[in-house]
This record gives sequence, C-alpha cells and structure tokens, in this order.
Amino acid sequence: MNTKYEIKNGLTGKSTQLEAMSGTIGPDVLNIAPLLKDLGVFTFDPGFMATASTESKITYIDGDAGVLLYRGYPVEQLAEKSCFLEVANLLIYGSLPSKAQLDAFQNSITRHTMVNQQLLRFFQGFHHDAHPMAMVSAVVASMAAFYHDSTDINDPRHREIFAHRIIAKLPTIAAAAYKHSLGQPFIYPRNDLRYCANMLNMFFAVPCEAYAIDPVAAEALDLLFILHADHEQNASTSTVRLAGSTGANPYAAISAGVSALWGPAHGGANEAVLDMLEGIGSTANIDDFLARVKDKRDNVRLMGFGHRVYKNFDPRAKIIRGMCYRVLEKLGRTDSPLFELSLRLEEIALKDEYFVSRKLYPNVDFYSGIIYSAIGIPRSMFTVMFAIARTAGWVAHWQEMVSDPHMRIGRPRQLYTGPKKQDYVPIERR
Ligand code: ACO
Repeated sequence: MNTKYEIKNGLTGKSTQLEAMSGTIGPDVLNIAPLLKDLGVFTFDPGFMATASTESKITYIDGDAGVLLYRGYPVEQLAEKSCFLEVANLLIYGSLPSKAQLDAFQNSITRHTMVNQQLLRFFQGFHHDAHPMAMVSAVVASMAAFYHDSTDINDPRHREIFAHRIIAKLPTIAAAAYKHSLGQPFIYPRNDLRYCANMLNMFFAVPCEAYAIDPVAAEALDLLFILHADHEQNASTSTVRLAGSTGANPYAAISAGVSALWGPAHGGANEAVLDMLEGIGSTANIDDFLARVKDKRDNVRLMGFGHRVYKNFDPRAKIIRGMCYRVLEKLGRTDSPLFELSLRLEEIALKDEYFVSRKLYPNVDFYSGIIYSAIGIPRSMFTVMFAIARTAGWVAHWQEMVSDPHMRIGRPRQLYTGPKKQDYVPIERR
C-alpha cells in the first residue's frame, strides 16, 4: 500500500490526502494533483528543485551516490563494453539489442547520413562567423520542411524513421556547419566508415588530399558520446518534452533542445571550461581565480564544477578524466598545459571549504573539452558534439512521451505577483 500524506489548511481546516508513488528505485514522489481540486492551491518550485515532471523508464541518477544507469545498466559498464550506436539503440528501444538488431540499426543509421542537397544550401545564408549551435539548431528545425514522411507523431513508423534520421544526419549537419565556418568544401558522408570515424572524416578531410582517420580519436569520441547520451530530465531534455507535448513535429522539438543545450549552465559549459582555463593561464594564478569565484560580487563560477543532481562525483567526470590520460598519451600530448592546470585546479577546489560545503564536484564537462581539443575539435564545436550525443536521449524521451496514450500538453502554473486588476488610462492622462 502506498504511503498517504495528510495536508491541512490551518485557517479553513480543509484537508486533502496526497498519495506517494513509488518508482523501481529512487525516492517516492507525491501526487499533488488533489491540492488544486481539494484546497485550491498550486505548488511552488522554481527551477524544479523538488519536482518530478514526468514518469520515465529511461535513465536513473542517484546524485548522492554518483550513480548513472541507462535502462538499468551502469554507465561505467556501457563505457567499457558498448559503443555509442548500441547505447542509442538501448535508450530508444529499451533493451540491449541482439546482434541482428544492432546490425540492422547500424545499417539504417549509416544509410540515412546524407542530407537533402537543398538543405545544405541553407549554410550559404549564414555569416562565416555564425556560432555552429545557431546553424545546427536552425537547420534541424528546417528538417521538417524536407522529410514529410516522418512528421506524423501519431504514426509509429514515422516516429521510427525520424529517430534514425536525426541520429544519422546530425553529424552531417554539424560537419557542414564547421566546414562553412572554415570556408572549406563540404565532405559527404562515407558509408564504409563507422559513426564517429565518418564524423571525423567529414570534419577534417579535404578534397585535395587523403585524410587518415585516427582510430584513437574515433574511439575517444565514441566514449564521450556514450557518456553524454542521456541524463534524465535535464534542461534540454525537458525542453524537448515540453515542445513535443504540444504535438509539434519532432524536428522542431529537437531544435528546441539544441537551443536549450547551448547555455553555459548546461551544454555550453564545455566551451566555457576551456575559456576559463586559458583565462587562468597557469597554476600560479589558481588561488587568485578561486578567490574571485568565492567572492559572490564577481559573478565568476568555476565552470565544469557543480551539478543540480550530483552532490558527489559525477561518474562521467571520473571516466573522462581517466580517458584524458589515455588519449593524451596515445596522441603523444602528455605535456598538455591545460590538462595539468585542470588537474591542479580540481585538486585545490576539492580541498577548499567553499566547494566542499556546497558539495561541488567536477561534472561531465570539466575534462571533455580537453579531449575534444586534443583530437582537433575546435572550441566552438564542443557543444555541437554534446548535441550529437544527447540527440539519442532526446529521441528516447520524445518517443516515450509521444507513444504514451495519456500524453498531455506540458503547461506549468505560476505565482502571480504583478498588479491587481486596474483600469486603462488614456495616454493624455498618464
Ligand atoms: N562555481 C562556484 N560556485 C558554484 C558553482 C560553481 N561552478 N556551482 C554552484 N555554486 C554555488 C552557488 O553559488 C551556490 O552558492 P550559495 O549557496 O552560496 O548561493 C551553491 O553553489 C548552489 O548553486 P546553485 O546555482 O543554486 O545550484 P544549481 O543546482 O542551481 O546549479 C549548475 C547547478 C548550473 C550546474 C551550477 O553548479 C553551475 O553553474 N556550474 C557551472 C556551469 C557548469 O559546469 N554547467 C554544466 C553542468 S553539467 C551539464 O549540464 C552537462
């Protein structure tokens, strides 16, 4: 039997019972729907500090214990044994695929990588210094104008075509944005290459000479993509759900997610971390920098630190830090001054009372930018890389929501603090 909580209005004596709902793991949640009906009140929780916005079977986080599970599988195991497309398949379809299922999925993704030629012409309309996230978000939204066989959200086949298509085409769109910013010709996808190797080729190959794909770089990217693939109801995923809950086409919903991811408090943090490290310059300046972080008047944050859910080590940050060593060693760049600086910064911050008392630990983005840099990805593309990986999660959440026959439009309420009703004053009397 579920626990019941009695809520009473002290003035009127009216009361209601709220029932606790239990998930498979994690804290119970209170069904607060009777509050409005029985007591005429809403709840107030800015920033969703204590509100579950939905029920979901996809990803579980225990922020105190530093646990992250995709469909029940620990991210550490997936990072060691799986590959990004298998993880994407797991997130979307709910269970680990058989060999035949995975082959079919990989084949379908590979064969959807080209984009409509007219869509590529969009890039000509952007200035060369446009931020790639602006281009990617705009071009993803435009996909609804091209792919009409995948916009009927009530048709399961449409939903599946959309899912494969967006995962397949996002690297192509990202590479087109990058090539546009360089003024280089677009490089078409190659079906003989795996997902990340193909992406590296589209980014770095040029028509005039052969390009050798570095397997270390492809492997590192694949691992980063696994770690970024999903993170339950984070800001961008919640944005995808909210936009999608209106019945908007899925490309519009994913484009909204790309835009939400861009902010420095979310996916934009990986870019901001490297800006911050370069700004600090050397280990000698760490103390001065941390003094500014702790002085609230300065409005400076230690980027790549802190998380709404993790009040312990972000398990992804641990894996990425280990990967940094391996990637830099394999690429012969163990003398990376930024990596040295970030290690020292982390060491000092983790002993500092300010960060300890607030339970601020490195998050997924503290080290990811160092790896992206080492494999040649430019800083402005870091958040785009995150978007490519997170598309798997966005798609899984969108599918879960849209295939639920009880889907309703997401429509939060508010605490109104504006003026009470007042009469219009003609302009000559104001
Ligand atoms: N540097 C300095 N102080 C911080 C930091 C930080 N990175 N993060 C939190 N704090 C402090 C806040 O100032 C606040 O202190 P106070 O209690 O004295 O006022 C306290 O810790 C709690 O912080 P909030 O901002 O209330 O925490 P919230 O859960 O709202 O924010 C967030 C989480 C946005 C991730 C925040 O920690 C942050 O800005 N971090 C830096 C940006 C970053 O790395 N973002 C990536 C997150 S992971 C991701 O999206 C992929």
